[in-house]
Amino acid sequence: MAARFQDKVVCVTGASAGIGEAAARRFAGEGAKVVLSARGAERLEAVVASIRAAGGTAHGVIADVGVDADAQRLLDETVATFGGLDVLVNNAGLHHRGPVLDRSAAELADMVHVNLRAPVLLTRLALPLLQARGGGRVVQVASLAGRVPTPGGATYSATKFGLRAFSFALADELAGTGITISVVSPGPVDTGFIMGDVDEVSDLTFSQPISTAAQVADAVLACAHDGKRERTLPPTSRLLTTAAYVLPGLGRALRPALERKGRRVKARLRKG
Ligand SMILES: NC(=O)c1ccc[n+]([C@@H]2O[C@H](COP(=O)([O-])OP(=O)(O)OC[C@H]3O[C@@H](n4cnc5c(N)ncnc54)[C@H](OP(=O)(O)O)[C@@H]3O)[C@@H](O)[C@H]2O)c1
Repeated sequence: MAARFQDKVVCVTGASAGIGEAAARRFAGEGAKVVLSARGAERLEAVVASIRAAGGTAHGVIADVGVDADAQRLLDETVATFGGLDVLVNNAGLHHRGPVLDRSAAELADMVHVNLRAPVLLTRLALPLLQARGGGRVVQVASLAGRVPTPGGATYSATKFGLRAFSFALADELAGTGITISVVSPGPVDTGFIMGDVDEVSDLTFSQPISTAAQVADAVLACAHDGKRERTLPPTSRLLTTAAYVLPGLGRALRPALERKGRRVKARLRKG
């Protein structure tokens, strides 16, 4: 495949594992200068070193996107290192799972800060940098939980709905400017995010086909290339979540059967 991102400067949050790592590796493989960010130094530095060893151009920034000063420093360091910004991928996210009453107020606020406030802030900070290049791309990693309300993950679901709403509205505000805002909405993905402790994850989540981090990374790069508004993985889940959103009664009626399917998948995964 031709290098779609030759010499483009790409900043990926949450790039030391999972989807962000896979996307960062692919961007570097297509010629981009990649800034990778995460909180933990050891894993981040290992990924940066491995991209460089493969001939790619990469720089690591240890930053917690939930901290405003870190978000600003991440973009400042991107510009200082590679001279500008062409693509921002807001991928870092977390999920304190369980019913709202079982989670502390601090945990709920943490999800709002990292999954919604941080990408809004980073996008706002990135816009003048993208304008200075005459255009650019922002890609937000949301979730199927941002397409259909998800009990057991009410706040997580709210942050991903909010991220999609922000992104679609901003995309309209920016029409004709050369700056696009895209959303990638995956179902379950085979990363530590859900595979680390299968029992903690809702049955509903596992009712949908599991994508690989590489498949989601492909969707991220496709959006960073063509600026399409949204890509949903897998395509069958797009139809299901659209139907459940438009007809919420149907969504609730289907849920018990989907949860039974998810429990069977979890049982298989437990057996390995
Ligand atoms: N896996 C799924 O099933 C799934 C499904 C739908 C949507 N998603 C979304 O996809 C995105 C990536 O998920 P993933 O599955 O790749 O997760 P993952 O494998 O757990 O990786 C998460 C990455 O984000 C970083 N991170 C977490 N909190 C951060 C913070 N406050 N500041 C900076 N970096 C942070 C982590 O590194 P540190 O911990 O070192 O910071 C790590 O690099 C998330 O937004 C998630 O909501 C995932």
